[in-house]
Amino acid sequence: MELAKKWIKVTVNGEPRELLIKPNITLLDLLRDYLGLTGAKMACISNSCGACTVILDGMAVKSCSVLAMQAEGSEVLTVEGLAEGDKLHPLQQAFINHAAFQCGFCTPGKLMSAKALLDENPQPTEEELKRDMEGNLCRCTGYKKYIEAIMDVAQHPVKYSAKEG
Ligand code: FES
Ligand code: FES
Repeated sequence: MELAKKWIKVTVNGEPRELLIKPNITLLDLLRDYLGLTGAKMACISNSCGACTVILDGMAVKSCSVLAMQAEGSEVLTVEGLAEGDKLHPLQQAFINHAAFQCGFCTPGKLMSAKALLDENPQPTEEELKRDMEGNLCRCTGYKKYIEAIMDVAQHPVKYSAKEG
């Protein structure tokens, strides 16, 4: 039986949106299929890999495992909302500086997890960082370089707030 569609109001990357959706779609479906925001990736679809991570009301969530309707009235930030105009977010710049990705498939999720972590704990220890990022898997670059990149941002905020990043 086809479920009746419902209206949802949600703010995505600072923009208020009002959408008529099936009530059983995930937040990842809403972002990718309704809003064309394909930064969050669809991979395991089982809450395991972190490729779909976005920030929901300040918390990193795996959007494949959140119903879109749960985001009603909330603020969602995706990787598309990280940069300010042509100025990359410090984490994006650090990932480039440290060559912290190869294929880049896992990178949006990692960036969003790292942003949520640094927003809450701007000076994490390496152990805290590794523990927090455990849910974001990478198949090709490995784990050393992006940890170095995130630690670089945490330890050198002034360098990364400069115009050139
Ligand atoms: S696609 Fe969501 S955790 Fe893997
Ligand atoms: S950079 Fe390829 S999966 Fe992580």
